[in-house]
Amino acid sequence: MASIDPVRPLAVVTGASSGIGRELARLAAQDGHDLVIAADQGPLEESADSFRALGAGVDAVEADLSTAFGVDKLMLAIAGRPVELLIANAGHGLGHGFLDKPFSEARHVVDTNITGTLDVLHRVVGAMRKRGSGRVLITGSIAGLTPGSFQAVYNGTKAFIDSFSFALGNELKDSGVSVTCLMPGATETHFFERADMLDTRLATEDKADAADVARDGYEAMKKGQDRVVADWKNKVSAAMSNVIPDSVLAEQHRRTAEPGSARQRGGND
Ligand SMILES: NC(=O)c1ccc[n+]([C@@H]2O[C@H](COP(=O)([O-])OP(=O)(O)OC[C@H]3O[C@@H](n4cnc5c(N)ncnc54)[C@H](OP(=O)(O)O)[C@@H]3O)[C@@H](O)[C@H]2O)c1
Repeated sequence: MASIDPVRPLAVVTGASSGIGRELARLAAQDGHDLVIAADQGPLEESADSFRALGAGVDAVEADLSTAFGVDKLMLAIAGRPVELLIANAGHGLGHGFLDKPFSEARHVVDTNITGTLDVLHRVVGAMRKRGSGRVLITGSIAGLTPGSFQAVYNGTKAFIDSFSFALGNELKDSGVSVTCLMPGATETHFFERADMLDTRLATEDKADAADVARDGYEAMKKGQDRVVADWKNKVSAAMSNVIPDSVLAEQHRRTAEPGSARQRGGND
């Protein structure tokens, strides 16, 4: 285990091996934090070395956070130290029709995005509340505002997480602990490859830069905001989703997430 400088406060970042989480962990390191980072399959040591080069002490935990055993491993690495920042970001998607993928894959999305995330929050945020200080950033998504045809389970998990974040933030008001929900739209990361969605229009359209999304989230967390929708185009989509009927949103989502929709681009709609 790496030696940790006791003067630097601790940030815990899940899903820090790539994408938005790696950028969030980089920001926390640059901001003077030591890190406990976790991911399941990604090149975690490579990320850890890049954060050490920024002066951070880093513990890297390889763990499947969809399981209680994986969360136990993360807690062992935290080892009872006070956590100043908790960035609960690990998550993944799943494309294709609900009935066209094995249920085990859908279950893994739910267990990672919801159960594992809540387990980490429950174990870490209690100590923050006792201490009367701490900042929490949870990566939800604007996907949570839309019924996600051909990504139905994922969007459902993010609807849960968006809602849960706002509720937890309200429960903790006046406690000294803030909860911020980062709500990105489509962002350039490994997300679409892992979700088996590379042949969709969603995966091939222009996307936000992961570093920009992370910066929006990190700044909102430092200010103690309850939410941030990254990128102005997503702010418009989020506002529209409040007034467009769910049936229309679901049909729109079909056009961008249905397998093969990338090939139909410009031809069918
Ligand atoms: N990219 C987008 O368009 C987009 C939009 C809105 C919200 N988001 C959300 O942003 C977050 C980060 O995703 P990303 O876009 O940055 O994708 P990414 O590059 O694939 O990163 C996902 C991170 O989560 C980790 N992870 C996934 N499942 C895990 C598990 N069971 N246990 C431990 N770690 C796990 C991955 O590690 P391993 O690869 O090692 O498992 C990786 O470090 C997710 O919550 C995602 O839902 C993404």
